[in-house]
Amino acid sequence: MELFKTYKLWPIEPIKGAGCKVWDSKGTEYLDFYGGHAVISVGHCNSAYISALYGQLNNIAFYSNAVENSLQVKLADKMGEMCGYPDYNLFLCNSGAEANENAIKLASFETGRAKIVTCSKAVHGRTSGAVAATDNPKIQAPFNRTPNVEFTPLNDIDSLKLKLETEEFAAFMVEGIQGVAGIFEPSAEYLKAARELCDKTGTLLIVDEVQSGCGRTGKYFAHQHSGVKADIVSMAKGIGNGFPIGAIIINPRIKASYGMLGTTFGGNHLACSAAIAVLDIMKKENLVENAAKAGEYIISHLKGNKAIKELRGRGLMIGIELNEGYQDLRDRLLFEKHIFTGGAGASVIRLLPPLCISIPEIDHFLEAFNDLTK
Ligand SMILES: Cc1ncc(COP(=O)(O)O)c(C=O)c1O
Repeated sequence: MELFKTYKLWPIEPIKGAGCKVWDSKGTEYLDFYGGHAVISVGHCNSAYISALYGQLNNIAFYSNAVENSLQVKLADKMGEMCGYPDYNLFLCNSGAEANENAIKLASFETGRAKIVTCSKAVHGRTSGAVAATDNPKIQAPFNRTPNVEFTPLNDIDSLKLKLETEEFAAFMVEGIQGVAGIFEPSAEYLKAARELCDKTGTLLIVDEVQSGCGRTGKYFAHQHSGVKADIVSMAKGIGNGFPIGAIIINPRIKASYGMLGTTFGGNHLACSAAIAVLDIMKKENLVENAAKAGEYIISHLKGNKAIKELRGRGLMIGIELNEGYQDLRDRLLFEKHIFTGGAGASVIRLLPPLCISIPEIDHFLEAFNDLTK
């Protein structure tokens, strides 16, 4: 059997990781400014994370959502405290797309409405509803295209107002910071207006923090920089540091009923142990604060580089829009300097390192970046 080839692969196989470094099968060391697509939050192979997973494997790896699981309760407590929504409820699933799928479904159940609005260039995942809410017809099959999703330009309050005032929409869904689109942030003014419009029109505000959450931007969720509260927040990636887990947190006003949402694997013992360990490590090592400080350091030191057209983002979610002539920079960083970064289209480099990145590691990256652009 061969693999179903849906990914374009770099000819590199990381087989070992530690902190913000990985090593490939030939023993070459790489600095990780990509975090496996914003997934590695507390660093590769953190010893407390490993002990938590080993410890749980020795007890029980999985049972079922038909019996009690106190690890889920412990995770909900710790997540509530860390994320600043202690009175919200937690639903656990397995990925970012599944989190968004459940967020959309819940908003539709709650409002009795079938349609949602999302933003132009949004990316919300590959499952049916999530991909319909993703503004990229190339990854939507005919089955996924539906009049139930409409798009509105990010930061265009008038366009959002026109849509929400129809009172046809169950939810407005927006990324905390648009990631795959190339790091575009909803302004505080826009999020505040969205909140007001949602309240006025009986629409729920869903914020997708799958990429921008878990402390990456210097607050637990990116939308918290605007002071706005969401009705439902979706998350995944960094909350498991590589163990597949997704989640939504839900305004307590939205009431659950049995069978409304469900999953076999969501909230399993290993996933909960991983997510609890991540929260404990983040708290102990002050990783949200580190993300804020490290991000400011990177941005202040990149400013003025002649290869850069625009710098966007916050904390450790940074977009470097390149001037013409530097389109090969991401590949050169990888193959000449052995530094992994993310991309968005041909001209944006996305920096998504683990939240434990240190100043010497950032200096290493800056030296390589400056050397390739001098
Ligand atoms: C903002 C956002 N939402 C949802 C997803 C989908 O997450 P997953 O790949 O875990 O399904 C992604 C993936 O990159 C994302 O960036």
